[in-house]
Amino acid sequence: MGLFAVLAAACGGGDGSTGSSGTTPPPDTPVTVLDPTCGVEATVPKTPTYAEDVAPILMKNCATCHTNGGIAPFPLLDYEQTKPLAGLLAERTTAREMPPFNPNNCGHCNTFQDARWLTSEEIATISAWAEAGAPAGDLTKAPAKPEPPAGLADANLTIDMGVAYTPDGSKVDDYRCFIVDPGITADKFLTAYEVVPGDPRVVHHVIAFALDTAAAEAEAESLDAAEAGPGYTCFGGPGVGASRFVVGWAPGGGPTRFPAGTGLRLEGGRKMVVQVHYNLAGGAFPDQTRIAAVVQDSVEKEATISRIAAQGINLPPQQPMTTVTNDEPVPAGAGAVTLWGVAPHMHGTGKTLHVEAEHEGQKQCLLDVGNWDFHWQSFSMYETPPKVQGGDTIRITCGYDTTGRDTVTQQGEGTEDEMCIAFFYVTR
Ligand code: HEC
Repeated sequence: MGLFAVLAAACGGGDGSTGSSGTTPPPDTPVTVLDPTCGVEATVPKTPTYAEDVAPILMKNCATCHTNGGIAPFPLLDYEQTKPLAGLLAERTTAREMPPFNPNNCGHCNTFQDARWLTSEEIATISAWAEAGAPAGDLTKAPAKPEPPAGLADANLTIDMGVAYTPDGSKVDDYRCFIVDPGITADKFLTAYEVVPGDPRVVHHVIAFALDTAAAEAEAESLDAAEAGPGYTCFGGPGVGASRFVVGWAPGGGPTRFPAGTGLRLEGGRKMVVQVHYNLAGGAFPDQTRIAAVVQDSVEKEATISRIAAQGINLPPQQPMTTVTNDEPVPAGAGAVTLWGVAPHMHGTGKTLHVEAEHEGQKQCLLDVGNWDFHWQSFSMYETPPKVQGGDTIRITCGYDTTGRDTVTQQGEGTEDEMCIAFFYVTR
Protein backbone atom coordinates (compact mmCIF):
# COMPACT_ATOMS: atom_id res chain seq x y z
CA MET A 1 0.00 0.00 0.00
CA GLY A 2 1.03 3.57 -0.31
CA LEU A 3 2.84 5.89 2.02
CA PHE A 4 -0.28 7.63 3.14
CA ALA A 5 -1.38 7.40 6.71
CA VAL A 6 -4.86 6.11 7.17
CA LEU A 7 -6.02 5.83 10.72
CA ALA A 8 -9.34 4.14 11.24
CA ALA A 9 -11.34 6.10 13.73
CA ALA A 10 -13.22 3.86 16.05
CA CYS A 11 -16.85 4.90 15.73
CA GLY A 12 -17.95 5.03 19.34
CA GLY A 13 -16.76 1.48 19.90
CA GLY A 14 -13.11 2.37 20.33
CA ASP A 15 -11.47 -0.93 19.40
CA GLY A 16 -8.48 1.01 18.09
CA SER A 17 -7.99 -1.18 15.01
CA THR A 18 -6.12 0.49 12.17
CA GLY A 19 -7.04 0.41 8.52
CA SER A 20 -3.49 0.13 7.26
CA SER A 21 -3.30 -3.66 7.56
CA GLY A 22 -4.80 -4.10 4.09
CA THR A 23 -8.24 -5.07 5.29
CA THR A 24 -11.11 -3.25 3.63
CA PRO A 25 -13.01 -1.20 6.18
CA PRO A 26 -16.62 -2.28 6.47
CA PRO A 27 -19.02 0.06 4.66
CA ASP A 28 -19.57 3.39 6.32
CA THR A 29 -16.95 3.16 9.00
CA PRO A 30 -15.65 6.68 9.59
CA VAL A 31 -12.01 7.00 8.56
CA THR A 32 -9.64 9.67 9.85
CA VAL A 33 -6.71 10.69 7.70
CA LEU A 34 -3.79 12.95 8.59
CA ASP A 35 -2.88 15.83 6.28
CA PRO A 36 0.84 15.93 7.14
CA THR A 37 1.53 19.29 5.45
CA CYS A 38 -1.09 21.16 7.44
CA GLY A 39 -0.79 18.92 10.49
CA VAL A 40 -4.53 18.35 10.76
CA GLU A 41 -6.71 15.27 10.64
CA ALA A 42 -9.94 15.00 8.72
CA THR A 43 -12.65 12.40 9.20
CA VAL A 44 -14.59 10.91 6.32
CA PRO A 45 -17.95 9.81 7.74
CA LYS A 46 -18.75 7.03 5.26
CA THR A 47 -16.92 5.04 2.62
CA PRO A 48 -16.49 7.36 -0.36
CA THR A 49 -17.43 6.31 -3.87
CA TYR A 50 -15.92 7.50 -7.12
CA ALA A 51 -19.20 8.80 -8.50
CA GLU A 52 -20.39 10.91 -5.61
CA ASP A 53 -17.29 11.80 -3.61
CA VAL A 54 -14.07 11.43 -5.58
CA ALA A 55 -15.04 12.43 -9.13
CA PRO A 56 -16.22 15.93 -8.07
CA ILE A 57 -12.82 16.53 -6.46
CA LEU A 58 -10.94 15.30 -9.54
CA MET A 59 -13.06 17.23 -12.03
CA LYS A 60 -12.55 20.46 -10.10
CA ASN A 61 -8.87 20.06 -9.19
CA CYS A 62 -7.19 17.70 -11.65
CA ALA A 63 -9.05 17.52 -14.97
CA THR A 64 -7.71 20.79 -16.38
CA CYS A 65 -4.29 19.12 -16.73
CA HIS A 66 -5.21 15.43 -16.54
CA THR A 67 -7.23 15.59 -19.73
CA ASN A 68 -6.78 14.19 -23.22
CA GLY A 69 -3.97 16.10 -24.92
CA GLY A 70 -3.03 17.91 -21.69
CA ILE A 71 0.36 18.35 -20.05
CA ALA A 72 -0.19 15.58 -17.48
CA PRO A 73 0.85 12.01 -18.35
CA PHE A 74 -2.65 10.49 -18.12
CA PRO A 75 -6.28 11.66 -18.13
CA LEU A 76 -8.38 11.41 -14.97
CA LEU A 77 -11.76 11.87 -16.59
CA ASP A 78 -13.65 8.66 -15.82
CA TYR A 79 -13.79 5.75 -13.44
CA GLU A 80 -12.01 3.26 -15.70
CA GLN A 81 -9.00 5.57 -16.03
CA THR A 82 -8.91 6.49 -12.37
CA LYS A 83 -9.54 3.24 -10.50
CA PRO A 84 -6.16 1.57 -11.21
CA LEU A 85 -4.38 4.74 -10.03
CA ALA A 86 -6.28 5.10 -6.75
CA GLY A 87 -3.29 4.29 -4.53
CA LEU A 88 -0.99 6.64 -6.46
CA LEU A 89 -3.59 9.42 -6.29
CA ALA A 90 -3.84 9.00 -2.53
CA GLU A 91 -0.05 9.11 -2.17
CA ARG A 92 0.52 12.16 -4.32
CA THR A 93 -2.37 14.14 -2.89
CA THR A 94 -1.42 13.32 0.71
CA ALA A 95 2.15 14.45 -0.02
CA ARG A 96 0.61 17.56 -1.67
CA GLU A 97 2.68 16.96 -4.77
CA MET A 98 -0.60 16.98 -6.70
CA PRO A 99 -2.28 19.22 -7.58
CA PRO A 100 1.00 21.12 -7.99
CA PHE A 101 1.21 24.36 -6.01
CA ASN A 102 4.33 25.72 -4.38
CA PRO A 103 3.10 28.17 -1.69
CA ASN A 104 1.78 26.56 1.46
CA ASN A 105 -1.94 27.32 1.58
CA CYS A 106 -2.82 25.67 4.92
CA GLY A 107 -3.57 29.08 6.45
CA HIS A 108 -0.63 29.52 8.83
CA CYS A 109 1.15 31.70 6.25
CA ASN A 110 -1.53 33.33 4.07
CA THR A 111 -3.92 31.80 1.59
CA PHE A 112 -4.02 32.42 -2.12
CA GLN A 113 -6.66 33.10 -4.75
CA ASP A 114 -7.41 30.14 -7.03
CA ALA A 115 -4.87 28.03 -5.13
CA ARG A 116 -4.46 24.56 -6.60
CA TRP A 117 -4.89 23.09 -3.18
CA LEU A 118 -7.08 20.33 -1.80
CA THR A 119 -8.70 20.68 1.60
CA SER A 120 -7.67 18.16 4.24
CA GLU A 121 -11.17 16.66 3.86
CA GLU A 122 -10.65 16.16 0.12
CA ILE A 123 -7.32 14.42 0.71
CA ALA A 124 -8.96 12.21 3.34
CA THR A 125 -11.75 11.35 0.89
CA ILE A 126 -9.31 10.21 -1.81
CA SER A 127 -7.26 8.21 0.71
CA ALA A 128 -10.28 6.54 2.31
CA TRP A 129 -11.62 5.71 -1.16
CA ALA A 130 -8.32 4.13 -2.25
CA GLU A 131 -8.10 2.21 1.02
CA ALA A 132 -11.64 0.88 0.52
CA GLY A 133 -10.66 -0.58 -2.86
CA ALA A 134 -11.79 2.35 -5.03
CA PRO A 135 -15.54 1.61 -5.16
CA ALA A 136 -17.40 3.03 -8.17
CA GLY A 137 -20.78 3.91 -6.66
CA ASP A 138 -23.58 4.87 -9.01
CA LEU A 139 -21.66 6.08 -12.07
CA THR A 140 -24.73 7.82 -13.48
CA LYS A 141 -24.22 10.34 -10.67
CA ALA A 142 -20.61 11.16 -11.59
CA PRO A 143 -20.10 14.76 -12.74
CA ALA A 144 -19.32 15.50 -16.37
CA LYS A 145 -15.83 16.62 -17.29
CA PRO A 146 -15.46 20.36 -16.79
CA GLU A 147 -15.42 22.96 -19.53
CA PRO A 148 -12.03 24.59 -20.05
CA PRO A 149 -11.78 27.96 -18.27
CA ALA A 150 -13.30 30.84 -20.23
CA GLY A 151 -10.75 33.00 -22.02
CA LEU A 152 -10.02 36.70 -21.61
CA ALA A 153 -12.95 38.25 -23.43
CA ASP A 154 -11.51 41.78 -23.23
CA ALA A 155 -7.98 41.04 -24.52
CA ASN A 156 -6.71 43.88 -26.70
CA LEU A 157 -3.09 42.85 -27.29
CA THR A 158 -1.52 39.61 -28.48
CA ILE A 159 2.05 38.81 -27.58
CA ASP A 160 2.90 36.10 -30.08
CA MET A 161 6.07 34.12 -30.76
CA GLY A 162 5.39 34.81 -34.43
CA VAL A 163 6.64 31.47 -35.72
CA ALA A 164 6.27 27.87 -34.63
CA TYR A 165 9.19 26.29 -32.80
CA THR A 166 9.76 22.55 -32.66
CA PRO A 167 11.39 21.79 -29.33
CA ASP A 168 14.55 19.71 -29.16
CA GLY A 169 13.23 16.17 -28.70
CA SER A 170 16.64 14.86 -27.62
CA LYS A 171 16.03 16.62 -24.28
CA VAL A 172 13.34 15.95 -21.70
CA ASP A 173 13.11 19.68 -21.00
CA ASP A 174 13.85 22.40 -23.53
CA TYR A 175 13.91 25.94 -22.11
CA ARG A 176 13.63 28.43 -24.93
CA CYS A 177 13.46 32.22 -25.03
CA PHE A 178 11.76 34.06 -27.88
CA ILE A 179 12.13 37.76 -28.56
CA VAL A 180 8.70 39.21 -29.21
CA ASP A 181 7.63 42.68 -30.23
CA PRO A 182 4.29 43.45 -28.58
CA GLY A 183 3.90 46.30 -31.08
CA ILE A 184 3.05 49.10 -28.67
CA THR A 185 4.41 52.52 -29.46
CA ALA A 186 3.55 54.38 -26.24
CA ASP A 187 3.76 53.13 -22.63
CA LYS A 188 0.86 50.86 -21.64
CA PHE A 189 -0.15 49.06 -18.48
CA LEU A 190 -0.68 45.32 -18.43
CA THR A 191 -3.74 44.54 -16.30
CA ALA A 192 -4.59 40.94 -17.26
CA TYR A 193 -3.21 38.11 -19.33
CA GLU A 194 -3.87 34.62 -20.43
CA VAL A 195 -1.28 32.29 -21.87
CA VAL A 196 -2.63 30.26 -24.76
CA PRO A 197 -0.27 27.34 -25.36
CA GLY A 198 0.13 26.42 -29.01
CA ASP A 199 0.36 22.73 -28.12
CA PRO A 200 -0.68 21.98 -24.52
CA ARG A 201 1.06 18.60 -24.67
CA VAL A 202 4.48 20.26 -24.51
CA VAL A 203 4.08 23.73 -22.95
CA HIS A 204 4.93 23.36 -19.27
CA HIS A 205 5.44 26.92 -18.15
CA VAL A 206 5.66 30.36 -19.67
CA ILE A 207 7.32 33.44 -18.24
CA ALA A 208 7.48 36.78 -20.01
CA PHE A 209 9.98 39.53 -19.34
CA ALA A 210 9.78 43.15 -20.43
CA LEU A 211 13.10 44.44 -21.78
CA ASP A 212 13.61 47.98 -20.54
CA THR A 213 16.67 49.18 -22.44
CA ALA A 214 18.08 49.05 -25.94
CA ALA A 215 21.13 47.29 -24.45
CA ALA A 216 18.98 44.46 -23.06
CA GLU A 217 17.32 44.10 -26.45
CA ALA A 218 20.72 43.95 -28.15
CA GLU A 219 21.92 41.29 -25.70
CA ALA A 220 18.85 39.18 -26.42
CA GLU A 221 19.29 39.66 -30.19
CA SER A 222 22.87 38.43 -30.04
CA LEU A 223 21.88 35.36 -27.98
CA ASP A 224 19.19 34.66 -30.56
CA ALA A 225 21.59 35.14 -33.48
CA ALA A 226 24.09 32.71 -31.95
CA GLU A 227 21.67 29.78 -32.20
CA ALA A 228 19.90 28.14 -35.11
CA GLY A 229 16.11 28.25 -35.25
CA PRO A 230 13.70 30.61 -33.55
CA GLY A 231 14.78 31.88 -30.13
CA TYR A 232 17.64 30.82 -27.91
CA THR A 233 18.27 28.45 -25.03
CA CYS A 234 17.72 30.02 -21.62
CA PHE A 235 16.97 28.77 -18.14
CA GLY A 236 15.64 30.67 -15.16
CA GLY A 237 15.78 34.18 -16.63
CA PRO A 238 16.19 35.59 -20.15
CA GLY A 239 19.96 35.89 -19.66
CA VAL A 240 20.05 39.66 -20.29
CA GLY A 241 20.53 42.73 -18.09
CA ALA A 242 17.55 45.07 -17.72
CA SER A 243 14.59 42.72 -17.81
CA ARG A 244 11.47 42.60 -15.69
CA PHE A 245 9.32 39.58 -14.95
CA VAL A 246 5.75 40.49 -16.00
CA VAL A 247 3.93 37.23 -16.75
CA GLY A 248 4.24 33.86 -15.02
CA TRP A 249 2.04 30.97 -16.03
CA ALA A 250 1.81 27.20 -15.62
CA PRO A 251 -0.86 24.96 -17.16
CA GLY A 252 -4.20 24.50 -15.54
CA GLY A 253 -4.90 28.14 -14.79
CA GLY A 254 -7.29 30.42 -16.59
CA PRO A 255 -6.56 34.10 -17.12
CA THR A 256 -4.71 36.17 -14.52
CA ARG A 257 -6.20 39.54 -13.66
CA PHE A 258 -4.14 41.94 -11.57
CA PRO A 259 -5.92 43.64 -8.67
CA ALA A 260 -8.44 46.27 -9.82
CA GLY A 261 -6.90 49.62 -10.64
CA THR A 262 -3.34 48.28 -10.89
CA GLY A 263 -1.09 47.22 -13.73
CA LEU A 264 2.51 46.74 -14.80
CA ARG A 265 4.15 49.20 -17.18
CA LEU A 266 5.17 48.01 -20.63
CA GLU A 267 7.42 50.59 -22.21
CA GLY A 268 6.43 51.82 -25.65
CA GLY A 269 8.63 50.56 -28.46
CA ARG A 270 10.38 47.97 -26.31
CA LYS A 271 10.51 44.24 -26.94
CA MET A 272 9.81 41.38 -24.61
CA VAL A 273 11.24 37.92 -24.08
CA VAL A 274 8.84 35.03 -23.72
CA GLN A 275 10.40 31.99 -22.10
CA VAL A 276 8.69 28.68 -22.74
CA HIS A 277 9.56 25.54 -20.85
CA TYR A 278 8.85 22.59 -23.11
CA ASN A 279 8.48 19.24 -21.39
CA LEU A 280 8.97 16.53 -23.97
CA ALA A 281 8.23 13.42 -21.90
CA GLY A 282 5.27 12.75 -24.23
CA GLY A 283 6.99 13.71 -27.51
CA ALA A 284 8.21 16.87 -29.26
CA PHE A 285 5.49 18.77 -31.11
CA PRO A 286 5.74 22.16 -32.85
CA ASP A 287 4.40 25.01 -30.78
CA GLN A 288 3.48 28.62 -31.24
CA THR A 289 2.38 29.96 -27.89
CA ARG A 290 0.78 33.36 -27.49
CA ILE A 291 -0.21 35.57 -24.61
CA ALA A 292 -3.57 37.31 -24.82
CA ALA A 293 -3.30 40.50 -22.79
CA VAL A 294 -5.36 43.42 -21.60
CA VAL A 295 -3.46 46.71 -21.66
CA GLN A 296 -4.65 50.16 -20.65
CA ASP A 297 -3.22 53.62 -21.25
CA SER A 298 -3.22 54.38 -17.54
CA VAL A 299 -4.03 52.80 -14.18
CA GLU A 300 -4.87 54.30 -10.80
CA LYS A 301 -1.79 52.75 -9.23
CA GLU A 302 1.21 51.53 -11.13
CA ALA A 303 2.37 48.21 -9.71
CA THR A 304 5.93 47.01 -9.78
CA ILE A 305 7.58 43.67 -9.27
CA SER A 306 9.89 43.91 -6.27
CA ARG A 307 12.21 41.14 -5.35
CA ILE A 308 13.94 39.87 -2.27
CA ALA A 309 16.84 37.59 -3.07
CA ALA A 310 19.81 35.94 -1.42
CA GLN A 311 23.05 36.55 -3.30
CA GLY A 312 26.38 34.77 -3.52
CA ILE A 313 24.90 31.28 -3.31
CA ASN A 314 27.65 28.72 -2.81
CA LEU A 315 26.22 25.41 -1.66
CA PRO A 316 28.36 22.52 -0.47
CA PRO A 317 27.59 19.19 -2.19
CA GLN A 318 26.05 16.12 -0.51
CA GLN A 319 23.89 18.06 1.97
CA PRO A 320 20.29 16.96 2.50
CA MET A 321 19.47 20.50 3.65
CA THR A 322 21.68 23.53 3.26
CA THR A 323 20.29 27.04 3.51
CA VAL A 324 21.01 30.59 2.42
CA THR A 325 19.39 33.66 3.86
CA ASN A 326 19.30 37.39 3.36
CA ASP A 327 17.76 40.36 5.13
CA GLU A 328 16.79 43.51 3.32
CA PRO A 329 15.20 46.64 4.71
CA VAL A 330 12.12 48.13 3.10
CA PRO A 331 13.42 51.62 2.14
CA ALA A 332 12.65 54.06 4.94
CA GLY A 333 10.70 56.42 2.68
CA ALA A 334 8.52 53.71 1.19
CA GLY A 335 5.52 54.28 3.44
CA ALA A 336 2.96 51.47 3.44
CA VAL A 337 3.47 48.93 0.67
CA THR A 338 0.82 46.34 -0.27
CA LEU A 339 2.04 42.94 -1.39
CA TRP A 340 -0.67 41.65 -3.72
CA GLY A 341 1.01 38.54 -5.00
CA VAL A 342 4.18 36.50 -4.89
CA ALA A 343 6.21 34.19 -7.14
CA PRO A 344 8.96 32.15 -5.53
CA HIS A 345 11.94 31.14 -7.66
CA MET A 346 14.69 28.57 -7.15
CA HIS A 347 16.13 25.93 -9.48
CA GLY A 348 16.35 22.15 -9.26
CA THR A 349 17.95 21.56 -5.85
CA GLY A 350 15.57 24.01 -4.13
CA LYS A 351 13.33 22.47 -1.46
CA THR A 352 12.06 25.19 0.87
CA LEU A 353 11.61 28.94 0.63
CA HIS A 354 10.41 31.14 3.43
CA VAL A 355 9.86 34.91 3.49
CA GLU A 356 8.93 36.92 6.53
CA ALA A 357 8.71 40.59 7.42
CA GLU A 358 9.72 42.04 10.75
CA HIS A 359 8.03 45.20 11.99
CA GLU A 360 9.21 46.57 15.35
CA GLY A 361 10.14 43.07 16.52
CA GLN A 362 6.86 41.51 15.29
CA LYS A 363 7.23 38.83 12.64
CA GLN A 364 4.77 38.36 9.82
CA CYS A 365 4.93 35.36 7.54
CA LEU A 366 4.74 36.33 3.86
CA LEU A 367 5.40 33.05 2.06
CA ASP A 368 6.15 29.48 3.01
CA VAL A 369 7.15 26.88 0.42
CA GLY A 370 7.71 23.48 1.97
CA ASN A 371 8.14 21.28 -1.08
CA TRP A 372 9.46 23.33 -3.99
CA ASP A 373 8.94 22.01 -7.51
CA PHE A 374 10.69 24.03 -10.24
CA HIS A 375 8.08 22.98 -12.76
CA TRP A 376 5.29 24.92 -11.13
CA GLN A 377 6.38 28.50 -10.75
CA SER A 378 3.83 31.19 -11.22
CA PHE A 379 2.40 34.24 -9.49
CA SER A 380 -0.05 33.59 -6.69
CA MET A 381 -2.28 36.41 -5.51
CA TYR A 382 -2.99 36.69 -1.79
CA GLU A 383 -6.55 36.38 -0.55
CA THR A 384 -5.71 39.01 2.08
CA PRO A 385 -2.74 40.99 0.79
CA PRO A 386 -0.18 41.66 3.54
CA LYS A 387 1.32 45.12 3.99
CA VAL A 388 4.82 46.12 4.96
CA GLN A 389 6.17 49.53 6.01
CA GLY A 390 9.28 51.53 5.25
CA GLY A 391 11.88 50.47 7.83
CA ASP A 392 10.63 46.88 8.15
CA THR A 393 13.05 44.07 7.44
CA ILE A 394 12.25 41.35 4.94
CA ARG A 395 14.07 38.05 5.31
CA ILE A 396 14.27 35.29 2.72
CA THR A 397 15.60 31.82 3.54
CA CYS A 398 16.00 29.12 0.91
CA GLY A 399 16.80 25.48 1.60
CA TYR A 400 18.44 23.12 -0.91
CA ASP A 401 19.07 19.40 -1.18
CA THR A 402 22.50 18.92 -2.77
CA THR A 403 22.80 15.17 -2.19
CA GLY A 404 22.73 14.70 -5.99
CA ARG A 405 25.72 17.02 -6.51
CA ASP A 406 29.43 16.23 -6.35
CA THR A 407 30.64 19.80 -6.65
CA VAL A 408 29.71 23.17 -5.20
CA THR A 409 26.46 24.65 -6.56
CA GLN A 410 26.79 28.33 -7.33
CA GLN A 411 24.51 31.23 -7.97
CA GLY A 412 23.61 31.67 -11.60
CA GLU A 413 21.07 31.23 -14.34
CA GLY A 414 22.24 27.83 -15.61
CA THR A 415 20.35 24.58 -15.05
CA GLU A 416 23.02 23.43 -12.58
CA ASP A 417 23.15 26.78 -10.77
CA GLU A 418 20.83 28.00 -8.05
CA MET A 419 18.80 31.07 -7.23
CA CYS A 420 16.85 32.23 -4.18
CA ILE A 421 14.26 34.87 -5.05
CA ALA A 422 10.73 35.88 -4.16
CA PHE A 423 9.09 38.29 -6.60
CA PHE A 424 6.27 40.41 -5.21
CA TYR A 425 3.58 42.29 -7.11
CA VAL A 426 3.44 45.52 -5.11
CA THR A 427 1.82 48.94 -5.02
CA ARG A 428 2.14 51.84 -2.64
C1 HEC B 1 -1.61 22.10 -13.23
C2 HEC B 1 -1.62 20.81 -13.85
C3 HEC B 1 -1.95 19.62 -12.99
C4 HEC B 1 -2.98 19.50 -12.10
C5 HEC B 1 -4.03 20.54 -11.74
C6 HEC B 1 -2.87 18.19 -11.55
N1 HEC B 1 -1.82 17.52 -12.09
FE1 HEC B 1 -1.21 15.62 -11.64
N2 HEC B 1 0.35 15.82 -12.91
C7 HEC B 1 0.60 16.89 -13.72
C8 HEC B 1 1.83 16.66 -14.47
C9 HEC B 1 2.44 17.59 -15.48
C10 HEC B 1 2.31 15.40 -14.06
C11 HEC B 1 3.59 14.71 -14.51
C12 HEC B 1 4.82 15.33 -13.99
C13 HEC B 1 4.87 15.40 -12.50
O1 HEC B 1 4.72 14.35 -11.84
O2 HEC B 1 5.04 16.50 -11.99
C14 HEC B 1 1.37 14.90 -13.10
C15 HEC B 1 1.49 13.69 -12.45
C16 HEC B 1 0.56 13.15 -11.59
C17 HEC B 1 0.63 11.84 -11.00
C18 HEC B 1 1.70 10.82 -11.28
C19 HEC B 1 2.87 10.94 -10.42
C20 HEC B 1 3.82 9.80 -10.67
O3 HEC B 1 4.59 9.57 -9.80
O4 HEC B 1 3.76 9.19 -11.73
C21 HEC B 1 -0.48 11.66 -10.23
C22 HEC B 1 -0.85 10.46 -9.41
C23 HEC B 1 -1.24 12.88 -10.34
N3 HEC B 1 -0.59 13.76 -11.17
C24 HEC B 1 -2.45 13.09 -9.70
C25 HEC B 1 -3.13 14.29 -9.73
C26 HEC B 1 -4.34 14.54 -8.98
C27 HEC B 1 -5.06 13.49 -8.14
C28 HEC B 1 -4.70 15.82 -9.22
C29 HEC B 1 -5.85 16.59 -8.64
C30 HEC B 1 -6.14 16.42 -7.24
C31 HEC B 1 -3.70 16.39 -10.11
N4 HEC B 1 -2.78 15.43 -10.40
C32 HEC B 1 -3.73 17.69 -10.59
C33 HEC B 1 -0.17 18.03 -13.81
C34 HEC B 1 -1.25 18.34 -13.00
